Amino acid sequence: MVENVMTLTGRNALVIGGAVGIGRAVCLAFAKAGANVAFADLDKRDEKASLLAELEAQSVDAIGLDVDVTSETSVAAVVRQTLESFGHIDILVNNAGVTSSGSPIQGQDWDVWSRIFDVNLMGVAYGMKHVIPHMLERGYGRIINTSSQLAHKPVANHGAYCASKAAVTALTASVAQEVAGAGITVNCVCPGMTNTAMLWVGGEEFVNAKLAALPIGRAGEPEEIASAYVYLASDPAGFFIGQSISPNGGDVMW
Ligand code: NAI
Repeated sequence: MVENVMTLTGRNALVIGGAVGIGRAVCLAFAKAGANVAFADLDKRDEKASLLAELEAQSVDAIGLDVDVTSETSVAAVVRQTLESFGHIDILVNNAGVTSSGSPIQGQDWDVWSRIFDVNLMGVAYGMKHVIPHMLERGYGRIINTSSQLAHKPVANHGAYCASKAAVTALTASVAQEVAGAGITVNCVCPGMTNTAMLWVGGEEFVNAKLAALPIGRAGEPEEIASAYVYLASDPAGFFIGQSISPNGGDVMW
């Protein structure tokens, strides 16, 4: 019998891509729910220092780490560092992501394309590869990958980003089946337009048209997205396997 309470008290979480935006809101929401939080990010020294202080103010254990998710060695190192500090990892969030200003396929810059796939897809794969053996040993785990509503509703001129996020959704569902019987859930969150630095990278015209077409008529706040991660990380979400949860202001409905 699962107690129907959304607490993360005593859980240890690793949030990769956690210093700013949605990842930062996830770290803070996890801490508020009682979890100890290790977060890792590329650069962002000031943001890491301020996040660490905010997490510690919530009376949980917290560590800030450096990672470049395009390097498997770097991802493996943050998993190792988290295990050294916390002893075990209950929750993994693979949240690092990048996009571009967009281009039709015939004008595609393959360096940009590769970068998007290296961060958005390979980063997620590396994170799961290095945490799952540990979770299998313990017979427990919650993995949450950040996909996008654009996985379900692709837009023109952002083929690499849409395809990378559709790949994250498919990878999530695939790996979820490998480990569901061992007490590990793997799901993804597919945020809609969210008020972070990334929102405007696609260009003002594109973003304003998307926002105007949204049933809710505005972008989401990172905290509104983070609540989905808290739920998926909690014990009551144990029957969610390989799902895409879509806080998106009504853009995609299913
Ligand atoms: P953001 O730009 O504020 O955050 C992106 C995070 O990824 C940053 O912490 C950044 O440092 C990290 N990152 C990028 N490259 C990295 C690398 N090589 N190694 C380690 N970390 C790296 O944007 P936001 O919105 O908070 O994005 C978080 C996730 O949400 C991303 O996966 C993004 O694709 C996804 N998303 C965002 C939406 C939005 O409208 N803001 C909508 C749908 C999905």
